[in-house]
Amino acid sequence: MDFSEKRQEAFDRLNALRAESALGGGEKRIAAQHKRGKMTARERIHLLVDNGGFTELDAFMTHDCQDFGMSDKTFLGDGVVTGYATIDGRLVYLFSQDFTVFGGSLSATFAKKICKVMDLAVKNGAPLIGLNDSGGARIQEGVASLGGYADIFFRNVQASGVIPQLSVVLGPCAGGAVYSPAMTDFIFMVDDTSHMFITGPEVIKTVTGEEVTFDELGGSETHTATSGVCDLRVPDEGSALSAIKKWLSYVPSNNLETPPKISENISASAQTKLRDVVPSNPNQPYNMKDVIDIIFDEDSFFSIKDAFAPNIVVGFARLNGESVGVIGNNPAFLAGVLDIDASVKGARFVRFCDCFNIPVITLVDVPGFLPGTDQEKGGIIRHGAKLLYAFSEATVPKLTVITRKAYGGAYDVMNSKHIGADCNLAWPQAEIAVMGAEGACNIIFRNEIKSSDNPDTTRKELTDSYADKFATPYEAAKRGYIDAVIFPEETRDELTKALSASRSKRDLRPKRKHGNIPL
Ligand code: HXC
Repeated sequence: MDFSEKRQEAFDRLNALRAESALGGGEKRIAAQHKRGKMTARERIHLLVDNGGFTELDAFMTHDCQDFGMSDKTFLGDGVVTGYATIDGRLVYLFSQDFTVFGGSLSATFAKKICKVMDLAVKNGAPLIGLNDSGGARIQEGVASLGGYADIFFRNVQASGVIPQLSVVLGPCAGGAVYSPAMTDFIFMVDDTSHMFITGPEVIKTVTGEEVTFDELGGSETHTATSGVCDLRVPDEGSALSAIKKWLSYVPSNNLETPPKISENISASAQTKLRDVVPSNPNQPYNMKDVIDIIFDEDSFFSIKDAFAPNIVVGFARLNGESVGVIGNNPAFLAGVLDIDASVKGARFVRFCDCFNIPVITLVDVPGFLPGTDQEKGGIIRHGAKLLYAFSEATVPKLTVITRKAYGGAYDVMNSKHIGADCNLAWPQAEIAVMGAEGACNIIFRNEIKSSDNPDTTRKELTDSYADKFATPYEAAKRGYIDAVIFPEETRDELTKALSASRSKRDLRPKRKHGNIPL
């Protein structure tokens, strides 16, 4: 064989190896994957990233397990496709688990590949996106696989607050494997094909006798509406990949950057519509999402954890093209009260925004914390404190608008001036008080009402006079707790000005290792 033949042989070998690696677990398993209604790891990547924008790393790595006949069963790439790419021109690192190779199960090699892209993402300051579709620990590898998981978990924590991390669950995600997604910033799930649980239906049946389906236990609906594990539920894989791009458009690449700003096609609804959104009867519900849709750029609201604790709304939006985090009590559910789930949902979102320089805009209409033994025994003190802590520790621009009620401790918690808000506005019908006028009068004027010849009239007179004084924004404005009382239609402009004024704020805090958020 002469030199040129040898060179050709070397080229052919590389081509053959590339083709072999690209086939993952082989054509039969790819067909089986499609039959399950799922795309392959590579198909997902190609649909997600910019055309030709993916650079694969470690395509030839294989596992080194010698037990259980595994030395004869190797697949180039070993069940996970890793690398970097651009999405809408922005660098991201990603891994995509390949179910066609040992069910996407995690070997020590598989974990090393993921760790490499995690380290690169942190070093280069780019978001990390994980596409999960895996049977969990590779059973043949035993503790080597468990160690691999822990290497990933450790890196999830080191990367937390440095680069945005997103997990998209597109198949099974079981056992301890759920803890990598759980430590990333957001989890998206697909209907029908994605499942997350610590122990599956069979184990549960054996241990407790309880019968439950995969969907009931760990499907997208359960984790969106009940457990709150999932941040976004989508109907299919294509929608999941579109949602990733949308999510990325609101977040910066790392904690040292500001979020991307959009300068084209900015429009907003007529602001006068805001006058009629909040009903004149203070006890009538309305949907805070309608307020959000009018104030912020048209169609810009990206709701997070939409079906979980709907009494609070959180999500990203844009104000004149600038990315902001919005958090609002929603009187359409439970009168917008703060309960355990709402507090945790809000706190987590505020902390994400604070990590990544995304200003927080808070819309307040809250009658207080939810009373009840369930809430007290469930630890509303501990959980409510999370939201108070999160708002208090955040140093991003923090703006607040009170649209109607701001009662009791919830007034303090919902980004009040006292816990560091930069701008606090209230609409004219706002009621900022310890509690509703009637409840207040029943307590402080109990004796007067009781001894009155006409208790109902006395109660009404006292309630009206209390409401005149306290169920307004003016007592708070008098003390400077509210910077301005504004007409609803002035909100967008006032927020725009306040955002611009606080953009380069400096909010220095004492040096410490870390605070101790109530968990
Ligand atoms: C090795 C695995 C595997 C695993 C699946 N496979 N899971 N190989 N280790 N964990 C292989 C199967 O043998 C099969 O190989 C192929 O992947 C596809 O699997 P199927 O069972 O045919 O697919 P499906 O019917 O869709 O079922 C998917 C599944 C099921 C629900 C994920 O495979 C399953 O229950 N697997 C075991 C899950 C599990 O118990 N994992 C360990 C969890 S404990 P062939 O060659 O036939 O194609 C854990 C601890 C982590 O993960 C701790 C971290 C701290």
